[in-house]
Amino acid sequence: MFMASRIQSRAFSASARQLSKVTVLGAAGGIGQPLSLLLKLNPLVTELALYDIRGGPGVAADISHINTKSSVKGYDPTPTGLSSALKDAKVVLIPAGVPRKPGMTRDDLFNTNASIVRDLAKACAESCPEANILVISNPVNSTVPIVAEMFKARGVYNPKRLFGVTTLDVVRASRFVSEVKGTDPVDENITVVGGHSGVTIVPLFSQSSHPDLSSDAAIIQRVQFGGDEVVKAKDGAGSATLSMAMAGARMANSVLRAAGGEKGVVEPTFVDSPLYKDQGIEFFSSKVELGPEGVSKIHPVGAVDAVEEKLLEACFGDLKKNIDKGKAFVAQNP
Ligand code: NAD
Ligand code: LMR
Repeated sequence: MFMASRIQSRAFSASARQLSKVTVLGAAGGIGQPLSLLLKLNPLVTELALYDIRGGPGVAADISHINTKSSVKGYDPTPTGLSSALKDAKVVLIPAGVPRKPGMTRDDLFNTNASIVRDLAKACAESCPEANILVISNPVNSTVPIVAEMFKARGVYNPKRLFGVTTLDVVRASRFVSEVKGTDPVDENITVVGGHSGVTIVPLFSQSSHPDLSSDAAIIQRVQFGGDEVVKAKDGAGSATLSMAMAGARMANSVLRAAGGEKGVVEPTFVDSPLYKDQGIEFFSSKVELGPEGVSKIHPVGAVDAVEEKLLEACFGDLKKNIDKGKAFVAQNP
């Protein structure tokens, strides 16, 4: 991934390199630390701002010794810490918030994480309204609408710059398929649409080179509930952090490549989407072509088979509830 980035960084203008400040909010956490490490290795990142309610400067001091060119600075929640971390950011990644424990759904995190994300979104709207905001904190189906509402309330909402990070679902799908089929995951490009929790995660195997898998309930279940495997294995110590850091770094790299002028950069991501607005679903993850403006083109879901049609129906019900819950939270707790 980063070899390709190096080539791109030579090919696509110095300006992208000059202006690529990336900020991580929640940088001292389980995801935040390895994510920050991977961002430090990315030559498209020129400045790395690491903010957390505790431990940001320590992580920054450690990462700053890595011999790549970008500058690194850590920030604490002092009166100007958050705004300084965000000022001039091109990309803001938000992995702040609590992770699941066994037996919990992502929606069970809502009560804690909704207000964390709301407050960070307010700070972003005030300090870097034009940045690309990449939301990792769960429940993504609700936290992304929360960010949108906070930006709308301040008159700075640009739907092209807000992304729910669903990359891990696609990373998992390609890995799980490669295990079943004995292939190299790099060759497995599985489209995953919908949202990021349980049945809202919809893999479209009929569109892959293994259409037989669309009737394989076990692999569908594994993609939809892959996060639970990690939560169970960590046994109370949290959820996916390392694979998530890789997925978040990939998404940030794609946004930066597109910002630098590279064409044809496509990532699945949960965005303000026209695809199912007529059914009251304002956000939806599908393949999105990225550009200098953020979201450049939202691809339709495309042809699906009868099994996938049913999966989509199940997705819509939960997804709408999750989105509405996020919007209602901001309306009641502005
Ligand atoms: P963690 O507890 O290890 O780290 C969270 C960090 O956020 C901590 O360092 C904490 O101090 C910090 N934090 C809390 N409130 C903050 C605030 N107001 N401002 C700044 N920082 C704050 O948790 P984790 O394992 O890194 O997971 C973080 C979130 O990411 C969870 O909500 C988890 O569910 C989610 N997640 C999402 C995906 C995805 O695919 N989108 C994948 C894995 C985890
Ligand atoms: C994941 O998919 O791994 C994350 O959303 C974390 C979780 O709670 O499962």
